[in-house]
Amino acid sequence: MNVGIIGAGYVGLVSGACFAELGHRVVCVDNDETKIKALKKLKVPIYEPGLTALVKKNVRRGRLTFTARILDAVKKAEVIFIAIGTPPKDNGEADLTGIESVARTIAKGMRSYRLIVEKSTVPVDTGRWVKHTVSINKRKGVTFDVASNPEFLREGQAINDFLHPDRIVIGVESARAQALLRKLYQGIDAPILATDIKSAELIKHASNSFLAIKISFINAVARVCELAGADVAQVARGVGQDRRVGPGFLEAGIGFGGFCLPKDLDAFVMIARKLGYDFDLLKEVKRINEAQKALFVKKIEDQLWNIKDKTICIWGLAFKPHTDDMRFAPSLDIIQALQAHGARIKAFDPEATAKAKRVLRNVTFCRDPYEAAAGSECVVILTQWPQFKELDFKRVKKLLRQPLVIDGRNMFTPSGMKRLGLRYVSIGRASA
Ligand code: UDX
Repeated sequence: MNVGIIGAGYVGLVSGACFAELGHRVVCVDNDETKIKALKKLKVPIYEPGLTALVKKNVRRGRLTFTARILDAVKKAEVIFIAIGTPPKDNGEADLTGIESVARTIAKGMRSYRLIVEKSTVPVDTGRWVKHTVSINKRKGVTFDVASNPEFLREGQAINDFLHPDRIVIGVESARAQALLRKLYQGIDAPILATDIKSAELIKHASNSFLAIKISFINAVARVCELAGADVAQVARGVGQDRRVGPGFLEAGIGFGGFCLPKDLDAFVMIARKLGYDFDLLKEVKRINEAQKALFVKKIEDQLWNIKDKTICIWGLAFKPHTDDMRFAPSLDIIQALQAHGARIKAFDPEATAKAKRVLRNVTFCRDPYEAAAGSECVVILTQWPQFKELDFKRVKKLLRQPLVIDGRNMFTPSGMKRLGLRYVSIGRASA
């Protein structure tokens, strides 16, 4: 099939490369000409394991092309995905002006039937507006459908999530649209859930909010564990083994970050409020998440007494491992709070340093974790990069001024760290 993807950002690029991998001919569009030029030279602007290889393979096969002109895609593709950003406005609502303008351009370029699919995360009812916008801008006699096909991929494992999803949600209002989308996803072994458009739009916000609820819930439980002298990791295992709960997203830590969960949570609160429902539960989820970072800074303070003029080594800056994404990373708030207390920061991240340099000031960025530890008061872990597990902690201990590790991601067992002669402070567990 011929597929057009408007927006070569995270979702657009991964979807484009994966649809090409499934055997479709895909045109990816972005109005950022520099990005398109780079992509044509096979330079992928984001770090995502496996993406560069997939892009290269499918460009060489002639199945994946890039352009800065929406009309190039509208001309060729029967199915056109809108995967552009919907950045948050100051009040937390998603800014949908880009979606409207893309819908208008698509409408003006259509000469025969097109299926226009929302892939960006959008508030419920956006489908109706897209439909309205296309209707008033298209040529007479040209037919079209609008559909919603939310994307659930996670950064760092986006390709696997796309090709092996738990489910594919398609919100449709015609048999033709449903048939086209089913054909498009042929080859992916996953249940397809066909719903109406509004329900599909809501599934995306409800899913991300539910994941946020799970994380804030376990973080709140972690606080109780600390007070009670219990171990949150053990509690999470016990709770998660109940199939009704499930084991995922029950890792206590410094809270959730990234470009999706925090933004989608705010947007869902706004959507509900606009519709007439005050979603207090989600507001509390956000409050717990914010408090989690402040609480972690307090933990560091409790260990170091005065933070002023002390050098703190940070391992991990990205909002989670296997990505270089720094957007809404908890590390930003935590480092800034430590700096406000007068700390000097030495930091190491395997992938996110370049992006972190753009958003963090007065940080000494190091080439490896040992360099960051050398002469620092303690190690503070903010992202659970697996390679941190392989480090020589005897060496780390010698490099530090105090044998102290404060772990915001519960990467290690307190007893194991104690055996290595390190004082170990983590989340929701007794210190060792
Ligand atoms: C999320 C959704 O998972 C995905 O379905 C959606 O399409 C986009 O948003 P992503 O932002 O890539 O994906 O990250 P995710 O893996 O969900 O992690 C989000 C944040 O939660 C990270 O900061 C992570 O460290 C944190 N987290 C996750 C926890 O603190 N504990 C957990 O148990 C799980």
